[in-house]
Amino acid sequence: MKRHALPLLLASLLACTTAPPATTSAPTSAPTPPPAVPVAAAAPVVTGKAMVVSAHPEASRIGVEILRKGGNAYDAAVAVQFALAVALPVAGNIGGGGFLLYRAADGQEGALDFRETAPVAASRDMYLDAQGNVVPGRSTLGHLAVGVPGTVAGMVELHKKLGRLPWQDVVQPAINLATLGVKLTPKEAAALNGNQAAFRELNAGHLPAYVKPQGEWQAGEVIYYPELAAALTRIRDRGRAGFYEGETASHIVAEMQRGKGLITRQDLVSYRAKWRTPLHGRYRGHEVLTFPPPSSGGVALLQMLQMLEPYNLQAAGWHSLQATHWITEAQRRVYADRATYLGDPDFGHVPVAQLLEAGYNRQRMASTLSYRATPSTAVTAGAGLPGYESDQTTHYSIVDAQGNAVSCTTTLNGAYGSKVVVAGSGFLLNNEMDDFSSKPGTPNAYGLVGGTANAIQPGKRMLSSMTPTILTKSGKLVLVTGTPGGSTIITSVLQSILHVLDYGMNAQQAVAAPRLHHQWLPDQIEVEEGALSPTVQDSLRARGYVLNPRGGWGRVDIIRVLPNGQLEGGADPRGDDSAQGY
Ligand code: DON
Repeated sequence: MKRHALPLLLASLLACTTAPPATTSAPTSAPTPPPAVPVAAAAPVVTGKAMVVSAHPEASRIGVEILRKGGNAYDAAVAVQFALAVALPVAGNIGGGGFLLYRAADGQEGALDFRETAPVAASRDMYLDAQGNVVPGRSTLGHLAVGVPGTVAGMVELHKKLGRLPWQDVVQPAINLATLGVKLTPKEAAALNGNQAAFRELNAGHLPAYVKPQGEWQAGEVIYYPELAAALTRIRDRGRAGFYEGETASHIVAEMQRGKGLITRQDLVSYRAKWRTPLHGRYRGHEVLTFPPPSSGGVALLQMLQMLEPYNLQAAGWHSLQATHWITEAQRRVYADRATYLGDPDFGHVPVAQLLEAGYNRQRMASTLSYRATPSTAVTAGAGLPGYESDQTTHYSIVDAQGNAVSCTTTLNGAYGSKVVVAGSGFLLNNEMDDFSSKPGTPNAYGLVGGTANAIQPGKRMLSSMTPTILTKSGKLVLVTGTPGGSTIITSVLQSILHVLDYGMNAQQAVAAPRLHHQWLPDQIEVEEGALSPTVQDSLRARGYVLNPRGGWGRVDIIRVLPNGQLEGGADPRGDDSAQGY
């Protein structure tokens, strides 16, 4: 028996306890007719040469400006990343981290990991009380929740390897934005208003720009960010050292001391972004390029695609009973594996090759019950997903005129991260430490459970679901996709691919169509409004599925290359996302 085959088999049994003899055969009754594929409110943006799709119109505008000036997709990515740090405080960041996947026009590719790390003073049980229970809020709010930020190191690394324009030129637009101010959209004003009390409480002693001294933020109001502009100027002038050393580093360390956080000057100086080898898979004649651990997203996505490929989703129909059954059973099984095996590959063995064996994944699907739900094993009591507050992470997709593609997901984790703003430097710090498993079996903010593979260790990267992904066919670029959404990221990226490849949707329909999500635990299908017809809902319930209707999640931003070479943008209508290009 191969190494790791046994534990994998155990996980498979865990996820499929009461399965009778395998069958994936035709249903016993005729499938319920699928609802018509919804048509998105807006048509997709189509351009001839280059495109940026991001979560904020200002960031997309700046990205396109850089491309027009002769910058490549990597220059534009740096400019968009810094612009989002100003224009989209809920998720854009310099105090967080992320994953960037690229595929150059000549077929070169790479995966840049600028995920945060646990500070050296972090320890496995740091979020537990004397009785060994997780202390609510300790890993999500305030200074102790902060991982060592990776974004600036990542951007410097990206630019050093692949950028074309001078570094100063790609950072400057964000400085201008911070200085001239950014107009609040209605969604941003509401999100900021909802967090005023937390900002005040966690930033006692100074008044961050996000705090409205009196009254409420209004849509259309302009916020100016002079401290953030100064911090970005230090990055412009000194690169890495302008953040991990000098004045900004001093501000971060002072902030940590003020709030009893753990990050030291040494943690900052030692932080390194890492180049990793992208994962490759195939789906319906396409090459799928995606992100390796410490993201769980790429592995999980490729597993689900392997599980689903034998099924004729198109014939079954979009969100039909049959298709929903297959997709849910694939998701359930993959999230069970995620909880057990995935973690930082620099701190332990992640059995990626075994998880990506086609035979293994097909065998897992063989245990699905024809048309009935396979119950998930109840591991934790009361595990429930929290409300999907808003877009707390953010994704951008970029294609330049040469055909270089970037897919980047970047995050503070929760909305506004730890809600701690670095005094003097004016930027928000992440609360990424909550992505570790604080205690085996206890769900994190996204209802995800984990164990030893994702336990806290000094210097380790916390497991992520971020899934930047690029599809090609016969060597030609086809799709750039990705999204925020915590645990739902992987299933939303999956659906963006299925929507385009199996259901023939255009880019805008593919991101706008209502979504479904299952993550093994809790054992329920999350159902966005309009995702399932009443008939299919009834049929699913009759077959043992629990449905949990909820508000929208994810902000999927994609670029599809049309057969004639034009670019088609899909900007998720759930947010302020914007596709722009030329
Ligand atoms: O890395 C992760 O998987 C999470 N920190 C992402 C959080 C996220 O997408 C929040 N957005 N809703």
